[in-house]
Amino acid sequence: MFKDMIKDIVTSYGPAGRETTVSKTIRKYIEPLVDEVYYDALGNLIAHKKGTSGKKIMLSAHMDQIGFIVTDIDENGFLRVATVGGVNPHMVLSQGVVFENGVKGLVYMETKDLSYASLDISKLFIDIGAASKEEAEKLVEIGDMAVYRPDFVDMGKRISCAAMDDRIGCAVMIEAFKKANTEHDVYLVFTVQEEVGCRGAGVAAYAIEPDFNINFDVTSFGDTPNATFVNISLGKGAAIKVMDSSVIVPKAAREFLESCANEIGAKFQREILRAGGTDTSAVQKSRCGVMASCISIPCRYVHSQVEMVDMDDVNACVDITACALSRKELPGF
Ligand code: CO
Ligand code: ZN
Repeated sequence: MFKDMIKDIVTSYGPAGRETTVSKTIRKYIEPLVDEVYYDALGNLIAHKKGTSGKKIMLSAHMDQIGFIVTDIDENGFLRVATVGGVNPHMVLSQGVVFENGVKGLVYMETKDLSYASLDISKLFIDIGAASKEEAEKLVEIGDMAVYRPDFVDMGKRISCAAMDDRIGCAVMIEAFKKANTEHDVYLVFTVQEEVGCRGAGVAAYAIEPDFNINFDVTSFGDTPNATFVNISLGKGAAIKVMDSSVIVPKAAREFLESCANEIGAKFQREILRAGGTDTSAVQKSRCGVMASCISIPCRYVHSQVEMVDMDDVNACVDITACALSRKELPGF
């Protein structure tokens, strides 16, 4: 079932730069569906199915998640950390985390000059239940990375877990490819290190030289109490990107996706983000430029431990993508 695959992928360990575990989970689902699966030098996982049209479509979603890297272990066994990607200290406080080797930790703050307002990562530490430096060093080393401890919550139509950003995009890609009937060469690229600056997607696009790219990522939300204004709501359909702070999607590419949505009667909303970017920008600027677009999955509480999506939106993203893959004509100027 689709939801079981989502749960499996979203709960796999994989902060930026340490994507091996999650890539193995993803590989299990995609390998039976394609002609070849390989890694490039950065660790991007690339699945390729040959086509007959002579055109190449690249689907991409980042498989890395935000996290923490151990910088210091003190005399009493507490870990100090730096952030890997956009971690908000207020969202991390008193959350559970887990390391690649399964060691669990709890995040708390210095209490002497207790000030929530000025809280930053330097005031936080991770308690792994060790009573001394020696004990801690048996469990964790400097340079190890932790992520939010995954807690997959199934509310029926809506589901929540850390790392929905962007494992839900990875799952949408796989599910859409399963449903699609396409004559094009398709490359499904599960990219690395998006959370630290879209580092993986660009090199993958350079190697593949796609005629068309659809990137998948989560987007922000504006439909919760007193939220900052973002014209995106959960349950109102796939979010087809118009613009974010890193990219303006060519009108032809956006209209192509919207025509697919209209053809199959899938709900969609237009996404315009004042802040934040995605791999789409890195793909767009590869080589002499790539016709790149983006389907975003509306997601509440992005970069928290409780990122939430609506399955109706997720399924709309799947169906629009399957339709796009089946089209003979791809967008161009
Ligand atoms: Co993110
Ligand atoms: Zn993302």
